[in-house]
Amino acid sequence: MPAVTTSFDTIRTEISGFAIRDIVSQFGTPCYVYDMSKIEERVKDLAAFDVVRYAQKACSNIAILDRLRRLGVVVDAVSAGEVKRALAAGFDLKQDPHCIVYTADVFDQEALALVKEHSLHVNCGSPDMIEQIGRAMPGANVTLRINPGFGHGHSQKTNTGGPQSKHGIWHEDVVECLRKADLHNVIVTGLHMHIGSGTDLEHLSQVCNALENIALQVGRTLTTISAGGGLPVPYRQGQTYVDLEQYYSLWDATRKRLEKAFGHSLSLEIEPGRYLVAESGFLIAEIRAVKQMGENTFYLLDAGFNDLARPILYGAYHPISISHRSGRAPSEQIDVVVGGPLCESGDIFTQEEGGFVAKRKLPVASVGDHLILEVAGAYGFVMASNYNGRFRVPELLIENGKLHCIRARETFEDLIRGESIPPAS
Ligand SMILES: Cc1ncc(COP(=O)(O)O)c(C=O)c1O
Repeated sequence: MPAVTTSFDTIRTEISGFAIRDIVSQFGTPCYVYDMSKIEERVKDLAAFDVVRYAQKACSNIAILDRLRRLGVVVDAVSAGEVKRALAAGFDLKQDPHCIVYTADVFDQEALALVKEHSLHVNCGSPDMIEQIGRAMPGANVTLRINPGFGHGHSQKTNTGGPQSKHGIWHEDVVECLRKADLHNVIVTGLHMHIGSGTDLEHLSQVCNALENIALQVGRTLTTISAGGGLPVPYRQGQTYVDLEQYYSLWDATRKRLEKAFGHSLSLEIEPGRYLVAESGFLIAEIRAVKQMGENTFYLLDAGFNDLARPILYGAYHPISISHRSGRAPSEQIDVVVGGPLCESGDIFTQEEGGFVAKRKLPVASVGDHLILEVAGAYGFVMASNYNGRFRVPELLIENGKLHCIRARETFEDLIRGESIPPAS
């Protein structure tokens, strides 16, 4: 299991050798910074798996995709846009026809056309997709994403299994789906379950058993099983990673039992998003106001939930650090509420699920100091929006002692691109 190196709610002067002061004087605030060395470390952790398939929804900048490709990682795509991102990042389907897999619960027309154009392997999350892929690509090999009838997730909004989840093919419908596959000339070669057991290995063993039972119903056409994503990272003091050796052992034992039953080898995939990129990412903001409201002290930033939505969406906790402009760090700490500039009461980074405002003990800071939302590389920038007419922020990559801008700050022209005013009648 990797050692936890995240620094929780403290003072930070640099990121991977680059002074915060220098980063912001060059690129301004807010900005996202990714530390490539952390991503490389996380890829190495998963070397035991035959295939590491990055769920690019977590952070889909083409520079990140390119670097992961160079590290031997392949990708998952959930939309036509993500397929095109992967192609733009150099994934070459001629070299490896499975380097991009389309995984979703539906095809929209654009995605189906692109899947057909590139003969992409599809992970079907609904029975209708089997029929649609059969019509578009008769003879295609597909994977079935199974909802085993139970789930797990850090919030009701992220629970990926059970009757309240919209994801996957219901476990009791597998036989019917196999009939559908026969009828539409589609061969089921893969099985996939994305349940995300967190650090709960007992729960994971139930997931493995559920996959094994379904695999035995599918039978000898299977060549791949996928453990899905959901590997956790520590966001709070005291949280840990899952024991990766045990995690792998459970899946490997499932794979081996199936290999014995089928008499041929099976490839074991994992499909992490968060695990590969979360800890690499930092959102640097400037404190623009410090104000007292009754019993609460607020640090108000130039970054809001349009830049990082996880707190308002899930009550997600991000470690926070302060970088003092003066370079001198006061030893005193106070309880503060951290919020953004948006016209919404919910624009609070220190909130709990349900929207309850929480206080955080942080170093005393003033206007002009910088505040860094940490472990922000996954589901950070990718969920950013232009709400309140705000420009999406730059993304920067630190790699081998160099700081690269991998996405420029948006401009007003970006903000109104595609808009037009019809002639007044
Ligand atoms: C099908 C699928 N695979 C992988 C992932 C990645 O999950 P995580 O980022 O928790 O590893 C997701 C997340 O939504 C998903 O839906």
